[in-house]
Amino acid sequence: MCGIVGYIGNHDSKEILLKGLEKLEYRGYDSAGIAVRNEKGVHVFKEKGRIADLRNIVDDHLTGKTGIGHTRWATHGIPSKVNSHPHQSASGRFTLVHNGVIENYELLQKEYLADVSFTSETDTEVIVQLIEKFVLEGLEVLEAFRKTLTLLHGSYALAFLDAAGSDTIYVAKNKSPLLVGLGKDFNVVASDAMAMLQVTDQFVELMDKEIVLVTQNGVTIQHLSGQTMERKPFKAELDASDIEKGTYPFYMLKEIDEQPLVIRKIIQTYQNEQGQLSIDPEIIETVNQADRIYIIAAGTSYNAGLVGKQLIETLAKIPVEVHIASEFSYNMPLLSAKPLFIFISQSGETADSRAVLVHVKELGYPTLTVTNVPGSTLSREADYTLLLHAGPEIAVASTKAYTAQIAVLAILSEVAAKYKGLETGFELTQELGLVANAMETLCDSKEIIEIISKEFLSVTHNCFFIGRGIDYYVCLEGSLKLKEISYIQAEGFAGGELKHGTIALIEEGTPIVALATQASVNLSIRGNVKEVVARGANPCIISMNGLNMDEDSFVIPEVHELLTPLVSVVPLQLLAYYAAIQRGCDVDKPRNLAKSVTVE
Ligand code: M6R
Repeated sequence: MCGIVGYIGNHDSKEILLKGLEKLEYRGYDSAGIAVRNEKGVHVFKEKGRIADLRNIVDDHLTGKTGIGHTRWATHGIPSKVNSHPHQSASGRFTLVHNGVIENYELLQKEYLADVSFTSETDTEVIVQLIEKFVLEGLEVLEAFRKTLTLLHGSYALAFLDAAGSDTIYVAKNKSPLLVGLGKDFNVVASDAMAMLQVTDQFVELMDKEIVLVTQNGVTIQHLSGQTMERKPFKAELDASDIEKGTYPFYMLKEIDEQPLVIRKIIQTYQNEQGQLSIDPEIIETVNQADRIYIIAAGTSYNAGLVGKQLIETLAKIPVEVHIASEFSYNMPLLSAKPLFIFISQSGETADSRAVLVHVKELGYPTLTVTNVPGSTLSREADYTLLLHAGPEIAVASTKAYTAQIAVLAILSEVAAKYKGLETGFELTQELGLVANAMETLCDSKEIIEIISKEFLSVTHNCFFIGRGIDYYVCLEGSLKLKEISYIQAEGFAGGELKHGTIALIEEGTPIVALATQASVNLSIRGNVKEVVARGANPCIISMNGLNMDEDSFVIPEVHELLTPLVSVVPLQLLAYYAAIQRGCDVDKPRNLAKSVTVE
């Protein structure tokens, strides 16, 4: 979703801003812009489309050592040049970029800005017009900024420039993520560290309701109330090469291939000196004290949560409910007496999940975040965090984060079980090692999946995924992958449920992907395949070695039944990838989607 960058220092800011915006492309956007300040004023360039389109219109000869930039994912107003950021105040003095949603913008417009003519349809423009209004009424810029912020309801990460005042980037945030980066003779602003790793790895976290003044040689942080805040920088533990594609055509393929490595890294990281899987005992006690666990997540992380439920209930014997974050806030179930809330989020920034976290914290319940991003909002704000150690995931379609989430939840389940003396009946470290090997075998068999996807999905507008038990959960993920990057309408169904309505959609040639990795339901799912084949469907059965039959299209190596999602999802990820390639889709940046969904 929207991304922000800013630079103030010794060098020309233009290229640093554009490169920073390119690093934020993965978040999803539909337009982009930059503003560069020099002795002649502030110069704005913005364009609908990609950063490459923006580059085409930026004046090559313009120089300026201060600037801000933005990628926009439209919420209020269509994607267009006019609605793109930066936005300027009526006189052009103030220039601002914003990530988030100002819920009361119409009210503010009516109450304070009835005589100002707006140029865009955005909620953002109200912020920059308010700052100017209060300055015209006699307030200093900082006070006008403070007064404006106290009026805003909603989420924001924002940065603005004052063409007439001092050379400063004014910054503030509430709910939406924003960091300040520190350098020698320069400072930067960024929605995430990746954008500015090109110039620094030292960052300062900003908290909600803080105002920050960023100059070439200093960063001043104040609470909205005026109190000055001190904060130490942290080093972003990211290697610039982690965020490069290397020889891969798309990040998604690179990230699929990284999965065996990620699983091995997780095993290593969660092992103690005796080689046993281990997690902070305080977390394990909190898990075991809960009489029910509520998993809150969205999209792929929700799908991983469903598998997590199976793992926790089977191994640690604690009942689990899995909830879609955006529903939970206003449709909360009757809670148990001693709940624990687990938030699963690759980015750690999903606004829907954060809204639930804030709410349940107010209610006084313990919270644990499982995330890939240390220092992310959900990680900072929960009582405990378990990290995925998957490395940056850049492709919008989540792949290695999904398998990492399941692996970490498996470890949590096993450690919690062992802590209370329950026997799990298998050695998880060893089983996860086998999973990593199996994943490697699958990554080496890409050509087969590519051929299947060509034969199977080339001429279709829809597709169904069926499975039973844990396979059904993987089907939900497989169908999400296919639809989000190839735009083929796809749905995941519990095998037995299809005939209760949806079977009406099966026509001659409708593709059906069926998963058969569970011995207890192997025959039932095959029966469900027969039902749809009898109505003309074209099946692709993906089974596990040992349960396979002649009719199967693809067989995955055998792993422990509970861990099959880690392996069976790989051919589904590849199927989606190749289907998208065949259709000429932009695999890493699918239309309308954002990597980090920072608005509710
Ligand atoms: O960062 P999160 O895991 O909280 O994101 C949740 C969803 O937005 C995300 O999983 C989304 O569904 C992916 N694009 C799916 O590939």
